[in-house]
Amino acid sequence: MFLNNNSNYPIGLDISDLSLKLVQLNKIQNKIKIQALSKVNLSEGIIDNGIIKNQAELIKAIKTLIANPQYGKVSSEEIIACLPETKTFIKLIEIEKTPNPLKEVINQEIEKHIPMSLDEIYYDWQIVKNSIDKQSILIGVTPKNIVDQYASLLDQAKLSIIALEIESISICRSLLIEEAGLSLISSATAIRQNPPKIISKAGNYGIIDIGATRTSMIFYSKNTILFTVSMPISGKQITNNIADTLELSQDLAEKAKIFCGLDKSKAQGVIKNILTDIVKKLIEKIQESLEFYNSHFANCGALEQILLCGGGANIKNLTQIIKQATNTEVKIGNSLINLAKIDEEFLKIFNEECIFDLNLLKKNNHISQKPLSITQDSSSTFSTAIGLALRGIVVDEM
Ligand SMILES: Nc1ncnc2c1ncn2[C@@H]1O[C@H](COP(=O)(O)OP(=O)(O)OP(=O)(O)O)[C@@H](O)[C@H]1O
Ligand SMILES: [Mg+2]
Repeated sequence: MFLNNNSNYPIGLDISDLSLKLVQLNKIQNKIKIQALSKVNLSEGIIDNGIIKNQAELIKAIKTLIANPQYGKVSSEEIIACLPETKTFIKLIEIEKTPNPLKEVINQEIEKHIPMSLDEIYYDWQIVKNSIDKQSILIGVTPKNIVDQYASLLDQAKLSIIALEIESISICRSLLIEEAGLSLISSATAIRQNPPKIISKAGNYGIIDIGATRTSMIFYSKNTILFTVSMPISGKQITNNIADTLELSQDLAEKAKIFCGLDKSKAQGVIKNILTDIVKKLIEKIQESLEFYNSHFANCGALEQILLCGGGANIKNLTQIIKQATNTEVKIGNSLINLAKIDEEFLKIFNEECIFDLNLLKKNNHISQKPLSITQDSSSTFSTAIGLALRGIVVDEM
């Protein structure tokens, strides 16, 4: 008799402006493993700031991604996808208990925070903490037109939608041990009221997702997201700055960025110097957000760690620079922390090679050098897709 080991779990699909990423997980004997994984870059203009501009091209790219993954085989047509981060809102609010129905009170609160009317949005909420006179409630809001656009896209691609999720929730689920298994806000249409199970060792984290087109910082304390803040940095902006300053092609600027980052010993610090202003603004925004956290959530205690994810987490020396500026432990988050221990061979699927010819940077230097090559671990760019796929196992299975 043949045993079919193919997973029935839904695909996690991270739809970003400039890339699509897919992860399908499988659970065998209680071990969660990657069954399929893939990434494809999207040309500019297909999705613009989260809004789908060319549905036909996007469907084509999704179909290619599913049919020909870089690793493994996709065995499901069910999808859990994220909604564009810049279009969604998630925040923990505290409300006084009143005799009025909770839904009414939440509606009033949402109207205070969101510049849209209630009939233009979908929202979910969940009671996180209940005391005698107050309640802490996590609310998540997405504009209806965005949800409808993504739902229609996946419908047209002949995929069946299990959930559309706010991205910061997926990121926390992939990076934090205490998060896998907890249900925060589940889907744009379902309302969940079950308070999460409290796990005693749950910590306080800042998570910075540095993507190609945007960056956000999530503040998370003891099993719940508190709020998220948008940060003034993106991979594309950095590459453009390098390309403009050094008059390089985008491709070469991208390689210079990956190879040198903020390391002053690389290319005589040329790239680091170009990035100084961008990094200064990022640090200022992190510090400002930390002050907000410390003053508004003093009862949560100090952040224990700042975790970086997204491709920009790999910027050379960035963890050290944020650590110095914040006096907090900073590291690249482990997107694979909630999966079964992955062997060396398997880790190679995350390897990305970058070959860089330094001679092209120093136009007037006649001493020629051999092209350099580095291999980097791209698992941090898969945090969202892994978190989405994990949801199919740890939340929807509950
Ligand atoms: N070593 C590195 N140093 C600097 N930047 C890097 C490095 N590796 C990858 N990147 C950048 O990371 C970005 C891609 O990250 P990621 O895949 O997280 O973005 P995305 O999810 O497609 O975009 P977004 O989240 O903004 O929609 C690119 O801009 C890429 O240049
Ligand atoms: Mg991203």
